[in-house]
Amino acid sequence: MDETERQRLLAQYSEIATLAGGLAHEIRNPLSTMSLNLELLVEDVQDSRNPRDRRMLKKLQKVQQEAVRLNELLNDFLQFARVGDQELVPTDLNALVRDFVDFYRPTAQEYGNEISLHLESNLPLVKLDESLIRQVLMNLAQNARQAMPDGGHLELQTSVRDGRIQLEFIDTGEGMTDATRSKIFQVFYSTKSDGSGLGLPTVRKIVEAHGGSISCESEPGRGTRFLISLPPA
Ligand SMILES: Nc1ncnc2c1ncn2[C@@H]1O[C@H](COP(=O)(O)OP(=O)(O)OP(=O)(O)O)[C@@H](O)[C@H]1O
Ligand SMILES: [Mg+2]
Repeated sequence: MDETERQRLLAQYSEIATLAGGLAHEIRNPLSTMSLNLELLVEDVQDSRNPRDRRMLKKLQKVQQEAVRLNELLNDFLQFARVGDQELVPTDLNALVRDFVDFYRPTAQEYGNEISLHLESNLPLVKLDESLIRQVLMNLAQNARQAMPDGGHLELQTSVRDGRIQLEFIDTGEGMTDATRSKIFQVFYSTKSDGSGLGLPTVRKIVEAHGGSISCESEPGRGTRFLISLPPA
């Protein structure tokens, strides 16, 4: 590909990216007006015993659910598009992971999942954007939870290998076939009825924006292991 061709593609790409981002923002306002009015309609019929109103309430609630889903999708999309303006600060990754687990453990326990931590004691600092890395942790923890509907165990590990800092997520969930695993980083790929399929693509984008990489091993019925490798500060 020559330089002019490359420039042309780049210009096209950024035009499409701007359009998509703009569209997502434009959809948000009317969607929130719709949600607000739905809420009011629900209040109107909520306490009625009239059978017609009861049927109407059911339908309104269905539309409400879909509006919530659409809103989540927009948030995920905008989040995905936003990665790139991170602020990298030398940080203690162990402390960040510990903080996250303190915050997340009650949710995990509610779903019958235990979390354990294995943190390397002499972990070098890593240059990272805390709020972005927290999103990485959240996305991976949520996926693990969703893969363990009947309870299970999630282990978070940090270590150093060949001078790089490693963060591992190991769950005892349902695992994936090779066919599924080969697609998990594709945008909008999801095997869940309510998944947007933007979780892992966002995770990968964030990790790569930190100069890192992410890989995954999985076995159906056994569990899944995500490995993130980051350069030291
Ligand atoms: N820990 C895991 N165990 C088993 N399968 C997983 C795991 N993590 C991800 N997957 C598979 O990868 C797919 C893509 O994950 P991703 O997080 O990108 O999207 P999602 O979870 O389906 O939706 P969302 O956008 O809400 O996160 C999932 O639908 C699931 O099939
Ligand atoms: Mg997910």
